[in-house]
Amino acid sequence: MGRFYEKVARPILFMQDPERAHENIVLGLKFLHNFSRICDFFHRMNQNSPSRPIQLFGLDFPNTVGMAAGMDKNAQFWRASAALGFGHVEVGTVTLKPQPGNPRPRLFRYPAEKALINRMGFNNEGAKAVADRLKADGAHRFRQIPLGINIGKSKSADLSKAAEDYLGSFHLLADYADYFAINVSSPNTPALRQLQGHKYLPGLLKTLREANIKRARKLGLKPIPMLVKISPDLDFQEIDSVLTDILDLGYDGIIATNTTIERPGSLSAANEPGGLSGKPLHHRAVQIIRYIHKATEGRLPIIGTGGVSDPTSAGRMIDAGASLVQIYTGLVFNGPFFPSTVARALAPRYEDWV
Ligand SMILES: Cc1cc2nc3c(=O)[nH]c(=O)nc-3n(C[C@H](O)[C@H](O)[C@H](O)COP(=O)(O)O)c2cc1C
Repeated sequence: MGRFYEKVARPILFMQDPERAHENIVLGLKFLHNFSRICDFFHRMNQNSPSRPIQLFGLDFPNTVGMAAGMDKNAQFWRASAALGFGHVEVGTVTLKPQPGNPRPRLFRYPAEKALINRMGFNNEGAKAVADRLKADGAHRFRQIPLGINIGKSKSADLSKAAEDYLGSFHLLADYADYFAINVSSPNTPALRQLQGHKYLPGLLKTLREANIKRARKLGLKPIPMLVKISPDLDFQEIDSVLTDILDLGYDGIIATNTTIERPGSLSAANEPGGLSGKPLHHRAVQIIRYIHKATEGRLPIIGTGGVSDPTSAGRMIDAGASLVQIYTGLVFNGPFFPSTVARALAPRYEDWV
């Protein structure tokens, strides 16, 4: 089936403008999402194949491969993602205010490198609309796989008001989130990545943590697991600073990494501004995962993302210290059977865990 995608479906999709192709795929997945029984059926079928469930942050993940943020920005097809064989899905990035993102074209393919460059700029319908959709879809009652919600800063919010902006999204979306990913690392929202620095990060994380604890007490629930998503362009000293803040404030994990503004190897001539993802990002993402795992002595769960392009690259992330991996660009180049292929291939690595 993977060969069918490679030989037939991908060439057809790649004849279209990259964002148009994405929109067509989204249409298909939204359609599938409406048939919850069919989604459940495929989800169960995928789980019957030898994929290893794991528990992390108090959540049950049926396998180790998740859909990375950015693919389902408005939470329109999370049930279809379970049907594709993903073990979790991270929707978003959602911002408090709806926003159109940057002008098109803003997504570019580099097939020879198995890479994408995007400068989408958090195009999304806003936290209220996404919350309404999740409610209408019954996400407050039942979710087949853990649903992460990735939140970011609205473009119009000043850095000094960022915490209030994230907090607004947190309150609107908390009833539907199995975990939150705090995105401070997209290169396409001006100044956003400054939130990773010690000047802003502790204040932002503290505000969200306090709100989370307060909500949990009020409702008699456990706090929602909170993770921070970081950039591959931080140096090790900057990563140390982020780790200190994350550990001090009792965050549950880290997602490494977002897209890079570097242009390694043959992409040095690619002059489209934006974040690079896919194969050329992989080496740096693995390096960072390994560093975090060592620096925290394995105490901080890591979700690895960046250039998972085959089972070997996914395994490399696990070996470097990631507990879960996420995929975006690999899905574009390898097609809909890729998540379950990777999940199956990774299963034996967890034999000792359970
Ligand atoms: C078109 C596109 C849009 C993305 N949008 C987001 C986003 O909204 N929020 C986010 O945290 N990451 C976003 N990402 C980054 C991915 O979640 C992921 O961290 C990155 O692409 C590396 O993984 P990959 O090499 O498997 O794509 C986006 C990536 C792409 C290619």
